Amino acid sequence: MIHLKELIQQSPYQGYAYAYPHKTAYRFFEKPLSLRDLWKKEAKQNLFLYVHIPFCEMRCGFCNLFTVANPKQPLYAPYLAALERQAKQVREALESIQFSRVALGGGTPTYLSVEELAQVFDIIQNVMGASSALPTSVEMSPKTVSVEKLQLLKAQGVTRASIGIQSFVAEELKALGRPQRLTEVATALRAIKASGIPFMNIDLMYGSATQTPTSWQYSIESALAYEPEEIFLYPLYIRPLTGLNKRTTTTDDHRWLLYQLGKSLLEKNGYRQITKRLFRKEEKSFTKVPPYYSVEDGMVGIGVGARSYTKEVHYSTEYAVGSKGIKTLIESYNQQTDQAYQQVVYGVQLTKQEQKRRYVIKALLEDENRLLTKRYHRYFGTSLSQDFPHLEELFDLKLAEEDAEKIYLTSEGLAYSDVIGPWLYSASVKDLMQTYELR
Ligand SMILES: C[S@@+](CC[C@H](N)C(=O)[O-])C[C@H]1O[C@@H](n2cnc3c(N)ncnc32)[C@H](O)[C@@H]1O
Ligand code: SF4
Repeated sequence: MIHLKELIQQSPYQGYAYAYPHKTAYRFFEKPLSLRDLWKKEAKQNLFLYVHIPFCEMRCGFCNLFTVANPKQPLYAPYLAALERQAKQVREALESIQFSRVALGGGTPTYLSVEELAQVFDIIQNVMGASSALPTSVEMSPKTVSVEKLQLLKAQGVTRASIGIQSFVAEELKALGRPQRLTEVATALRAIKASGIPFMNIDLMYGSATQTPTSWQYSIESALAYEPEEIFLYPLYIRPLTGLNKRTTTTDDHRWLLYQLGKSLLEKNGYRQITKRLFRKEEKSFTKVPPYYSVEDGMVGIGVGARSYTKEVHYSTEYAVGSKGIKTLIESYNQQTDQAYQQVVYGVQLTKQEQKRRYVIKALLEDENRLLTKRYHRYFGTSLSQDFPHLEELFDLKLAEEDAEKIYLTSEGLAYSDVIGPWLYSASVKDLMQTYELR
């Protein structure tokens, strides 16, 4: 295994470990698995429901998400009917399930009309059985926000509006390949604030070629003026098959400098760093919400491109980045038979060792950066230090510390999250990721 120190010297930006194994490690299974069998032995009380809407009003130059900009009617119109058919099959196969959290992502869920959004909430609540009282998050982009849509979301119990802004500087938006008007940004942010939805999150990006420390500060301060409860600061990654790939570049030094600046500015303004990317103002919190621990609890994804996690198998539909590949996959999702929705054909099996790796990666990088050692022991029946002796390197490099209950990343460790994650990937997952053929 390569030493963490060597990897850091190569680059602090090895990759964003938001899910392990990464979806490029997914493959077709030799034989289809039955959804029912897969979930039979799972605990199903505290699940996350994710609904994927693969449509946007634009295709941003940096984005490799599973989405189509301004889809044509034949692709778009049948999607919600397919979503409902899939939801019915999933609900039936999973039998008694209880959700703790709900998220609508994409793509841009607010690309849908008010009526279509109402249809999606009908599927969530009446087909999937997820209550409107659960913490529920919806992703949106400025142009697709309207007062009517926000009213509907609020009435359906949405608790978090997460909006991608990326930058408050027109020239930077252009360089990012994101056609977005600043007047629309202001209107959308004001409307979200006035909507009564209790949490607003703003996504910003740093590291594009024309961005300077001054312009970055300007974007952050502009976001702060709307008093969001959360801000995500994303380092720009230029990914294969995206619009930016051939056009521009970013450097490690540039991103590193802007990260430090962003972090200190947000901390000065009363935001607490939760992960490398997430900063939160700790004023409001929910009093009574059902527990959900992403490190241990499962996820049910519906919609094309949505991932689902059981202990031993992570699965989704096939994945693509290029618009032709995505359209073909949406078409085939729309036409799938009810029987086909009951089967799992694409994903990755997790051995016990991989389950442990995932636990460690998620707990360290996501769960407020702490890995509860006794809880790990209770969950797996083995000791963390025996399973992962090389975690010692984190202490040697002062990237993590340990007390009687937990291992947690230091401020320096947080900054190096995008190396620590990939460093913990197994050789076989790395091999699958490297041999994945992107289309
Ligand atoms: C699901 S997307 C955003 C939702 C919405 N569709 C929008 O664009 O406004 C989540 C966030 O990931 C970030 N992101 C996407 N691609 C990225 C990349 N290549 N590098 C860094 N951040 C990226 C952006 O900040 C984006 O807002
Ligand atoms: S960044 Fe958001 S709006 Fe842009 S293409 Fe990706 S998902 Fe769509």
